Formats: sequence, structure tokens, C-alpha cells
Amino acid sequence: MSTTRKRNLAHNLTSLCGMVLAAIGFIVGATLIIIDLQSHFDNPYTGIFTYMVVPTILFGGLLLILIGVLRERKRRKKTDAEIPELPIIDLNNKKQFATLIIIIVVTLLFIAISVVGSYRAYHFTESVEFCGKTCHSVMKPEYTAYQNSPHANAGCTKCHIGPGADFYAKSKLNGLYQVYSTIFNKYSRPIPAPVHNLRPAKETCYTCHWPEKFFGATELKRTYFRADEENSPWTIQMLMNVGGADPALSHSKGIHWHMAIDNKIEYIAADEQRLEIPWVRMTDGDGNETIFQTLEKSKQLTPEQIASSEIRTMDCIDCHNRPTHQFHSPERALNEALSAGLLNPDIPEIKLNGIDVLTGDYATEGEALMAIETRLTEAYPDGGKTLTQAISAIQKIYAQNIFPEMKVSWEQYPDHIGHMITPGCFRCHNGDHQSEQGQTISRECASCHTIIAQGPGRDVTSINSGGLEFKHPEDIDEEWKETRCDECHTGVPVM
Ligand code: HEC
Ligand code: HEC
Ligand code: HEC
Ligand code: HEC
Ligand code: HEC
Ligand code: HEC
Repeated sequence: MSTTRKRNLAHNLTSLCGMVLAAIGFIVGATLIIIDLQSHFDNPYTGIFTYMVVPTILFGGLLLILIGVLRERKRRKKTDAEIPELPIIDLNNKKQFATLIIIIVVTLLFIAISVVGSYRAYHFTESVEFCGKTCHSVMKPEYTAYQNSPHANAGCTKCHIGPGADFYAKSKLNGLYQVYSTIFNKYSRPIPAPVHNLRPAKETCYTCHWPEKFFGATELKRTYFRADEENSPWTIQMLMNVGGADPALSHSKGIHWHMAIDNKIEYIAADEQRLEIPWVRMTDGDGNETIFQTLEKSKQLTPEQIASSEIRTMDCIDCHNRPTHQFHSPERALNEALSAGLLNPDIPEIKLNGIDVLTGDYATEGEALMAIETRLTEAYPDGGKTLTQAISAIQKIYAQNIFPEMKVSWEQYPDHIGHMITPGCFRCHNGDHQSEQGQTISRECASCHTIIAQGPGRDVTSINSGGLEFKHPEDIDEEWKETRCDECHTGVPVM
């Protein structure tokens, strides 16, 4: 036997290269995993390297060894008929026995490491770091907004993937395309919204919020600073009727009434961003249907158009389309900074100048931040500590809300909550959607909120819990009763 002994089948160039690769992959991978288990990496690139690149090298190496062996067998079979179908293992041969044990141990070790590795890879691709930081420039707007939102601790995947393996797999397949489009710079700026393959809200939002939980009213208090010399404040305080979703309390019609289990509201949007809604169908618990159509003749849909349009059932996202990626308008962001004392309202015309520098035409964030500093320094030559604070507050507003590299701002991503600078609720509730029976979708201010205080100043002392008629802060006659607010208000002061 020993005279006919052949060289091992793995003695060929391909398998040898494979062994070197596998060995490198194994040593590097094992070292990185040990380091990672002891001190968690927070840099997403090391994570990708450890759990994606290194295992690929390792398994690539193993594959090469196998390919080499198979090719070598085929070659030898042609020249030497004596080669047996399967290798003969002689357990009494000490050397062969030892080799077998080594092969078994190494294989088990490999399997164990790949199990740990893929488990860690799974968790890693689920992490906020992976979603938010890996595609740094692409996701920067959403990641930044997320960190400043009420959902900053929720985790991207809670809304974007949700529970279950099928959506995990789907999202990773989608992700492969996204990695491709990022590497080859093929993604659009901004990323288009609405997101069409977003998982239904019932399977994501409902894991933390559910309709029965909404009842009563929440308070909303806002102070607006006018774009005049004194940055004059005006305050509105109101109660939002957020209840209405619990069928057991069906008499109480509140904002979340749309979401009550008993009701279904469907609509057709005339545009991609769902800002124009000419057709609405309401189905109540008994199955009675009411169809509301816009009264504007030019926008009405024909029966053929209705039959061929996508009908969408209203859910959380049709109002809360920006629950976490909120890009505020300069007007709103400045009002909030002034209210919170981050920006000193005693600086003359700071509201107007803030709007001015925030709405400049900048190519990059760096350029914007520099320009904000130089232009404000020019506007207030006396300088001082309050100016330094104001500059950094306004720079921060810019960095959190406007992303020139991705062409993202409040204008690209209209928020459907409210009706001040986007059509929002008034897409349907503008008083111009009627049913054949003559019923109109309500524009009654008090059906959604009760104004309990309003007027000049930062605090309005007299609270009227019975509700007040709205007083428009600027004299525009009765215009606000008929015209949609967003036809004048756009996120910067109305001139
Ligand atoms: C509270 C739920 C929620 C969380 C948490 C969340 N998102 Fe979103 N995200 C949404 C919704 C809803 C949309 C869809 C907006 C639309 O369709 O108009 C969206 C849209 C997006 C978009 C498309 C662009 C846009 O702004 O509409 C990107 C990109 C995105 N999210 C990334 C992320 C990343 C990265 C994280 C984690 C850092 C994250 N999201 C966390 C709810 C969430
Ligand atoms: C992982 C749990 C979780 C998920 C999933 C989640 N939320 Fe929330 N959400 C929260 C928590 C916690 C708060 C309360 C934050 C606070 O009180 O400041 C909150 C607050 C909110 C608020 C109130 C925001 C405010 O300004 O106070 C809205 C609106 C909201 N969520 C909508 C949504 C929508 C829409 C979805 C689905 C796209 C969603 N949430 C998914 C946990 C979640
Ligand atoms: C018809 C539009 C609409 C729909 C649909 C809707 N909401 Fe709301 N929701 C509102 C408005 C308006 C508020 C008041 C707060 C505000 O003005 O930001 C609110 C408030 C909330 C709050 C904070 C209220 C509180 O009690 O603290 C949460 C959380 C919330 N919504 C979650 C959801 C979830 C989850 C869904 C889907 C089941 C949903 N909403 C569906 C319009 C809507
Ligand atoms: C797709 C169309 C549509 C949109 C968008 C919409 N609603 Fe509605 N809403 C309806 C319909 C239809 C009804 C039932 C008709 C009615 O009662 O006026 C209704 C009823 C209501 C009611 C009960 C009114 C009552 O009679 O007491 C409230 C409150 C309400 N909506 C609040 C809101 C708020 C707040 C928003 C924006 C965040 C909003 N809706 C956005 C279609 C819509
Ligand atoms: C269909 C429901 C609905 C109707 C009808 C409605 N509102 Fe509102 N309104 C809202 C919601 C929701 C918000 C809260 C937006 C937010 O959270 O930023 C809001 C916010 C406001 C604000 C604060 C605006 C801001 O962005 O700071 C004012 C002022 C206001 N409403 C006045 C009115 C007046 C006046 C009317 C009657 C002509 C009216 N609303 C009718 C739902 C409604
Ligand atoms: C015909 C145009 C027009 C319409 C319609 C209109 N506004 Fe105004 N609004 C103005 C002007 C002009 C000012 C004062 C200039 C400014 O400060 O932007 C103003 C100021 C305000 C302010 C004071 C805060 C601020 O931005 O300075 C609030 C709040 C406001 N409007 C709410 C509303 C609401 C809510 C509606 C819809 C119900 C509405 N407006 C409809 C023109 C309009």
C-alpha cells in the first residue's frame, strides 16, 4: 500500500490558495470576534468587516479548497484508472486517525464560529448604527432627525422592518440594492417619499401604540415670534381632541376616530406625495358607504379614473408620515428656539435675520454654517456673548433641519399633521368635500381642537376652557375662514 501511496488530492495550486485564504480569514475573524465580544465596536465599518467581509473570505477559501480537490480528482481519474471512488480511510493507521480527528474538530469549530458570527451579523444589521451611519451621507438627514425625535430610542427597524423573519429577509434583499446604489452613487436626492414598501402601520406602530389607548385631549401651546423689530410674541394654547378610537366610546368623535376598528376611510390621491385628495370613501361599522368628492370641478375624478386608481386605506402614516424624521421649517424651528430661550428674543430683528440666513442658497452644510456666522456677524457689528450664542443656535437649527447635500428640507418632505404650512388635514377637511347626500367633511375648527387661550405675549393668563373663536394674529379680515392656511403660510414669514 505504501508504495502506491499518492499525494493528497489537496496538493494543487487552487486548493493551496484556498487554504491560505481560509487560514487568514479564520485567524483575522477569530481575533476580531474575540475583541468584539470583550469591547463592543461602535464603528459600523469594523462591524461590516468582522461579520460580512471576513466570513466571506473564509468561506471563499474553503470553497477554493473544495474546487481544487474536485478538479484534481477529475484530472487523476483520466490518467490513472486506479483511483477509488471515495478515499479509503484506515482508522488503524495512527496518522490517518489523527488527521481525521483534526478535520472533525476544525469543522465543528468553523460551524460554531459561523453560528455566532451570523447571529452577531443579524443583530448588527438590525442596529441603529448600521442603518444610520453605514450609508453615512445618504441616511444623514433621517438619522439626524431621528435622534432629535420622540422616537430616538425606538430603533430604525421597529418601524422599518418590524417583527418576523419574512420582513427581515425582504428588507435585506432591498438592502442589497441600496448598498449597490450607494456604492455606484445611483440613489436619488432626496430619497423619495412616501415610502411605498413601508410595512403596514398595524404591524409596526401598533407594537407600541394602539387605537384604544387614545382618549381625551392633549395640550398644545405654541408661541410665535413675528418677523418685526421686537420679534413680538403671540401665543396660542389649545386642547387637541386626540380621542375617539375606542369603539366602546364611539359617541366621542375625536381625531383618532379614523382609526376606530369600526370605521374604514379610503381615498384616492391625485399626486405622488398624496397632497391632493379628490375622492374619499367612508365605511361605517354597519357597512354603510359614503363617498365624498371635491367640489372643485376641474379636480373631480371621472368613474373611469376612479376605477383605474389605487385606493389607499387610511392608517397612522396618512397623518403621522413624519413621526420621527421631522424636518422643521425655519419659521417653526426659530420659534421653538426663541421660546425655549436657546435664542435670545431681545436681539432686535433676530427672527427676520435668522430666516434670512437659514434660507440662503448653499451647496454644502459646511458652506452654510460659515455663511451663517459671517452674515450674522456683519448684521450685528457690536458682537458680544449673546451674538455668539445666537450664531451657534442658528447653526444648530440648520444642521438639524436642512441637508443641502441630500437636497432635504421641510419643503421636500411635507408633514401631514396639522394644516398651517402644508395641506395636511385640510386635504380632506377643507369644507369642500361633499357627498351626494350633501354631507361635508368638517372644517369646523373646534372638531379637532379647542382654543383655550390666545393673544400677544409669551404667556396668556386668561384661560377659557369653554373654547374661543380663533383670532388671526394679523388682520386679514375673514380670509382664514375660507382660504387654506398653506396658501399664504409656507414655513417662512408671509410677506
Ligand atoms: C417611529 C417610526 C420610525 C423610526 C423609528 C424610523 N423611521 Fe424612517 N420612516 C418612518 C416613516 C413613517 C417613513 C415614511 C415617510 C413617508 O412615507 O412619507 C420613514 C421614511 C424613511 C426614509 C425615506 C426618506 C424619508 O425621509 O421619508 C429613510 C431613508 C428612513 N426612514 C430611514 C430611517 C433610519 C436610518 C432610521 C433609524 C436611524 C429610521 N428611519 C427610524 C418611520 C420611522
Ligand atoms: C418601539 C416602540 C415604538 C414604535 C414602534 C412606535 N412608537 Fe411612537 N412613540 C413611542 C414612545 C415611547 C413615544 C413617547 C415619547 C414621549 O413621550 O416623548 C412615542 C410617541 C409618539 C407620538 C407622539 C409624539 C410627540 O410629539 O409627543 C406619535 C405621534 C407617535 N409616537 C407615532 C408613531 C407612529 C406613527 C409609529 C409607526 C410608524 C410609531 N409611533 C411607532 C414608541 C414607539
Ligand atoms: C386623522 C389623522 C390621524 C391618524 C390616522 C392617526 N393620528 Fe395620531 N394624532 C393625530 C393628531 C392630529 C394628534 C395630535 C398631536 C399633534 O398635534 O401632533 C395625534 C396624536 C398622537 C399621539 C400622541 C397623543 C397622546 O395621547 O399623547 C400618538 C402616540 C399617536 N397620535 C399615534 C397614532 C397611531 C399609532 C396611529 C395609527 C393607529 C395614529 N396616531 C393615527 C392624528 C392622527
Ligand atoms: C383622507 C381624508 C381625510 C384626512 C386626510 C383627514 N380626515 Fe378626518 N375625517 C375624514 C372623514 C371622511 C371623516 C368623517 C366625516 C366627518 O365626520 O366630517 C373625518 C372625521 C374626522 C373627525 C371627526 C369629526 C366630527 O364630526 O366630529 C375628526 C376630529 C378628524 N376627522 C380629524 C382629522 C385630523 C386632525 C386630520 C389631520 C391630521 C384629519 N382628520 C385628516 C377624512 C379625512
Ligand atoms: C381636521 C382637523 C382640524 C381642523 C378642522 C382645524 N384644525 Fe387647526 N390644527 C389641527 C391639527 C392636527 C393641528 C396641530 C398641528 C401640529 O401638531 O403641529 C392644528 C394646528 C392649528 C394651529 C397651530 C398651527 C401651527 O402649526 O403652529 C392653529 C393656529 C390652528 N390649528 C387653527 C385652526 C383654525 C383657525 C381652524 C378653523 C378654520 C382649524 N385650525 C381647523 C387640526 C385641525
Ligand atoms: C391671506 C393670507 C393668509 C391666510 C389664508 C392665513 N394667514 Fe396667517 N398670517 C398671514 C400674515 C400676512 C401673517 C403675518 C405675517 C407673518 O408673520 O407671517 C400671518 C400670521 C399668522 C400667525 C402668527 C405667527 C406668524 O407666523 O407670524 C399665525 C399663528 C397664523 N397666521 C395662523 C394662520 C392659520 C391657522 C391660518 C388658517 C386657518 C392662517 N393663518 C391663514 C396671512 C395669512
